[in-house]
Amino acid sequence: MLGNFTYSNPTKLYFGREALDGLNEELPKYGKNVLLVYGGGSIKKNGIYDKVVAILKANGKEIYEDAGVMPNPTSEKLNEGIERAKKAKADLILAVGGGSVCDYAKAVSVSVNCNVDAWDKYYIRYEDVTCDIVPVGCVLTMVGTGSEMNGGSVITNHQQKLKIGHVFGDKVFPKFSILNPEFTYTLPKYQMVSGIYDIMSHILEQYFSGTDDNTSDYIMEGLLRSLIHSANIAVENPSDYEARSNIMWTATWALNTLVAKGKTTDWMVHMLGQAVGAYTDATHGMTLSAVTMPYYKYILKYGTAKFARYAVNVWGVNPQGKTDTQVANEGLAVMESWMKKIGLIMNITQLGATKEMLDGMVKSTLVMDGGYKVMNEEDIRAVLQASF
Ligand code: NZQ
Ligand code: ZN
Repeated sequence: MLGNFTYSNPTKLYFGREALDGLNEELPKYGKNVLLVYGGGSIKKNGIYDKVVAILKANGKEIYEDAGVMPNPTSEKLNEGIERAKKAKADLILAVGGGSVCDYAKAVSVSVNCNVDAWDKYYIRYEDVTCDIVPVGCVLTMVGTGSEMNGGSVITNHQQKLKIGHVFGDKVFPKFSILNPEFTYTLPKYQMVSGIYDIMSHILEQYFSGTDDNTSDYIMEGLLRSLIHSANIAVENPSDYEARSNIMWTATWALNTLVAKGKTTDWMVHMLGQAVGAYTDATHGMTLSAVTMPYYKYILKYGTAKFARYAVNVWGVNPQGKTDTQVANEGLAVMESWMKKIGLIMNITQLGATKEMLDGMVKSTLVMDGGYKVMNEEDIRAVLQASF
């Protein structure tokens, strides 16, 4: 039975080859000062920076820059961004980049007008926003996180060896996001497949929970099938517009809160992946692929019927004459060989994790209680151990 929920998603999306024109519609809604946030420079190489700056200037905006947002943005960089946004008296924060840049922009947006340590407030104490929020807009250049249409914001603290996400409410969602699939063509293959797996993992984190008959599960099976189909095409031909646009749209729907409605949701793959990320600073989607098989093989016996349904409806396993456990295992085996085929990293050793980090990673793994098994320390250790 569907649980009770409230649904609201205020982000306005502009999608397609002309999506950037949407900026001309959005910019007049905000004051003069724009904090332009971006990463390590890919947008300068591929020309997106020039296009965005031209539109900002044509709309009479004063541009203040905050560059160098790293993948897995840090708490130090966040503090720097808060100062920059204060100095700029930013009326709008325009994030141009991937999930890291968009997440970071949201973290700055809820902190500029609060005189407190943002890391402690939002990521350690997990407090609500109590100050005025500076609006955020996002021009997406890397597909995967869903940050373009959600309130998620993940920050890494290297001193504390913690990578933590705060899921903010809809006031913090980007006011608008620009989604042009062509902007993702210049992504290196490693990033593209990492993003593809991030999408798959978001869907699975929500799918593998509950035993009820829930519309969201049917939507997710469709999203997964589309994702697998388009990923196979994009891996062969990265500039196939149809495939890249389907992947981009699937990413948004995978984590814009819709499919979570009425479900408890798991998120343990992400908690394990984030602990690995806190120690290795590895690419997000790859931390997920590296722990997925050990985790799902570990919890399969607690959610066998759902894993069997997944095998049949998503991977086309023929269930005739087989037990649920056999079908479920066959589904994971097909998934595993697909993951290898598209070039995902399948163990944490390859991401730089060492046995010396194991105790720390176990401690850094937050425990969620919405999946098929509430993991204890011993369970987490076993899964991480199997991920080396
Ligand atoms: O920094 P630049 O030079 O721009 O390079 C980036 C970066 O190195 C590059 N890139 C992005 N667009 C490109 C491009 N290179 C060439 N052409 C382009 N068009 O790609 C690299 C990775 O970018 P990043 O933004 O780090 O990737 P992603 O979108 O995967 O974001 C990862 C962050 O999002 C968090 C992750 O934990 C991680 O910190 N997540 C956010 C979520 C949310 N908001 O809901 C949920 C996710 O589960 C995830 O945790
Ligand atoms: Zn993710």
